[in-house]
Amino acid sequence: MRVTVSAPGKVILFGEHAVVYGRPAIAVPVTQVRATAEVEPGSAGGGLRIVAADLGRTLSLVDAPEDEPLTAIVRLTLAHLGIETAPDAVITIRSTIPIASGMGSGAAVSSALAKALAVTCGRDLGPEELSALVFEVEKLYHGTPSGIDNTVIAYERPVYFIKGQPPQPFHIAHPFTLAIADTGIASPTKIAVADVRRAWQADRDRYERLFDRVGEIVQAARRAIEEGNVDALGPLLDENHRLLQEIGVSSAELDRLAGAARAAGAQGAKLCGAGRGGNLIALIRPDQARSVSEALRAAGARSIIVTQVG
Ligand code: PMV
Repeated sequence: MRVTVSAPGKVILFGEHAVVYGRPAIAVPVTQVRATAEVEPGSAGGGLRIVAADLGRTLSLVDAPEDEPLTAIVRLTLAHLGIETAPDAVITIRSTIPIASGMGSGAAVSSALAKALAVTCGRDLGPEELSALVFEVEKLYHGTPSGIDNTVIAYERPVYFIKGQPPQPFHIAHPFTLAIADTGIASPTKIAVADVRRAWQADRDRYERLFDRVGEIVQAARRAIEEGNVDALGPLLDENHRLLQEIGVSSAELDRLAGAARAAGAQGAKLCGAGRGGNLIALIRPDQARSVSEALRAAGARSIIVTQVG
């Protein structure tokens, strides 16, 4: 039996970094980009092999190192399901989610792999279980992740998230449109998160105040989204971006893209995810998709995804 499952990308609308320190954050799935896992039966006794098609790598479950993320999610999932012997199968992973750019590619790949394996073994994984399994692997990628990526990707719906708590359901009263622009600069989350931790350790008062202000913006953004007050979101994005600059995770490229989006008429813009590189989000009206995308490209964006949220 051939099985194909997938998991979406995501963006953090508000609250990255502060979320690691207990403040809330809001993230939404981005369904245009996905990680896909396709399972085919393998040769009898051949065990389980994982083909990372985009990377040109093949891994065998029996001899991959313990901390290899692709086989780690497989081992964790098999243990969780109480399955002692992995099926003889080949799982091929493909992803259209840009790597190391704040769109959750690692969590989506893990999520697709875990779901594919469960289906192959005739089992089902609920979003809570799936999220917990992917979180274990996120720790290998990111060190001290908040858990927001695995949550939004496993639940495949917008989440208002506080570390260590179940995601709070929230309602998008009026859909809105985002242009997501990629700087083309890969920025490992682990490094940005570790730098912020060092800066926080050096000046806790200042950083706690910055995180508090981010937390207030997230709450205001949640209210605005639930009330359908899209106009309020632009200034909140701008303010969150400014705070991320102060936290020390923006970059000249991200600031240039944010300025270009605003100058082209976007209602607001901010970096999303770990920062330093990766993606920028700009809030736009649907009729601005072309003009803002052109301005972003002229300012250096490598690729642009326009997506509707809600
Ligand atoms: O780069 P991303 O999208 O994986 O975002 C990381 C978000 C942080 O808040 C910086 C870290 C975390 O674990 O929440």
